[in-house]
Amino acid sequence: SFEVVAEQSGVSVIVGENQTIVDALAEAGIKVDVSCEQGVCGTCLCDVLEGTPEHNDKFLTEEEREDNDQIVLCCSRAKTDKLVLDI
Ligand code: FES
Repeated sequence: SFEVVAEQSGVSVIVGENQTIVDALAEAGIKVDVSCEQGVCGTCLCDVLEGTPEHNDKFLTEEEREDNDQIVLCCSRAKTDKLVLDI
């Protein structure tokens, strides 16, 4: 598990092994717009303010992945203990 801080919302959630970041945020009342939920469409893309994503999507380019400043919330996770998101 890892921690996600929703900076704009002022909320912090723990993302468990069997849930997505979208799921964990929903439990805290933060609704993320999704469409494909498979990492393809980019609807759930979000800016990363701190921490390093583990990119599991098929949307970002290799260059965008390396920048680590955006994350696809429906399927990507975290390499660091904490991610701070601009949401
Ligand atoms: Fe399509 Fe996340 S909902 S990439």
